[in-house]
Amino acid sequence: MNDRSPPFTPISSQLPRSAGEMLETGLLNQWYLVCRSSDVGDKPLHLKRLNQDIALWRDASGKLNAVEDFCPHRGARMSKGRVLPEGLACIYHGLTVDGDGVVVAVPPVHSCPMVGKKAIAAYPVREAAGAVFLYFSNGTTSEVPELELPEPLVSGEWSGFLHAAEWDCHYTLPMENRLDPMHAPFLHAVSFTLGYGVKQSVLQLHETPTGFVIERDNQRGVNIDRTEVIYKPGSNFWIWTDIPYPKQAGGNFFRILSHITPIDREHTYFWVFRWQKSSGWRRDMWRFLYKNRLEKRHLDVLNQDQDIMEDIPANVRERETLIQSDVGIARMRRMMQKEAEAQIQSMQARGG
Ligand code: FES
Ligand SMILES: [Fe+2]
Repeated sequence: MNDRSPPFTPISSQLPRSAGEMLETGLLNQWYLVCRSSDVGDKPLHLKRLNQDIALWRDASGKLNAVEDFCPHRGARMSKGRVLPEGLACIYHGLTVDGDGVVVAVPPVHSCPMVGKKAIAAYPVREAAGAVFLYFSNGTTSEVPELELPEPLVSGEWSGFLHAAEWDCHYTLPMENRLDPMHAPFLHAVSFTLGYGVKQSVLQLHETPTGFVIERDNQRGVNIDRTEVIYKPGSNFWIWTDIPYPKQAGGNFFRILSHITPIDREHTYFWVFRWQKSSGWRRDMWRFLYKNRLEKRHLDVLNQDQDIMEDIPANVRERETLIQSDVGIARMRRMMQKEAEAQIQSMQARGG
């Protein structure tokens, strides 16, 4: 639990009321990466994530704060306001909230009863690996689990880069694309790292204590041959894939760690960490090569994905036909459906 965060009050009017609705805008009770650290400068920032409007700002000590982007006076966007030593001041009449969503000043009136009251929701915030993570609660508990980062993001033995961009599609499309290794040798047939290997496999699925693994039955260390979903309900969600590098790029492999953050029903914040275990001159070489050559190639691959995702019709599930290689997609859908139903049940039991 964040030592400064009071029990989190959700934005009840924006919370989903059915499992279907929750899956439309994103599972709650999870940490999500919402932007890069460098996106938050000395001005407040507006973000839409999981269909919620958020105001994010950095105080003088550098600490990040995130609250509902709604002024409790007359509804102006707090993110249009100014950062003061005591909090974020609304541009309209100066009402000021602190990082817990508590009103600390209402300058136009003397002894305003709003002062001292928690008036808007605040989000638990963490900053790590050059990124900002927020916890999105369904409001049934005040517990905030720790953000658990995969080893490469916390270990000094790994070095890497974060890529993040907005895609015009529902978040489930890029998420399911990450669980579909068989698209790589086709869609990315002409690419630096993903054009290799056999084009037909049986996809095997293994349950693990923390999620599941999908792997190809006839190939290892060539293309996207193994993907692991690490999922802790109520807390953390990561998708992990290792991709080998060709010799001309220094050999070795790089690790892709991602999840997907919904913006709203039509937009997605797509992000991915690309990490490599290396030290000394090898690390310098990897960082140099990445910035000078590999990043562009990776973006070319992602553009191929994005181009497909953005044109898939929103109602695709009504007409699609899954095939054997979609076993990971089917597993993920069942897992998310179960979690969404459990969360809605607990919200209803609480009178939400
Ligand atoms: S609307 Fe924000 S202070 Fe009036
Ligand atoms: Fe792809």
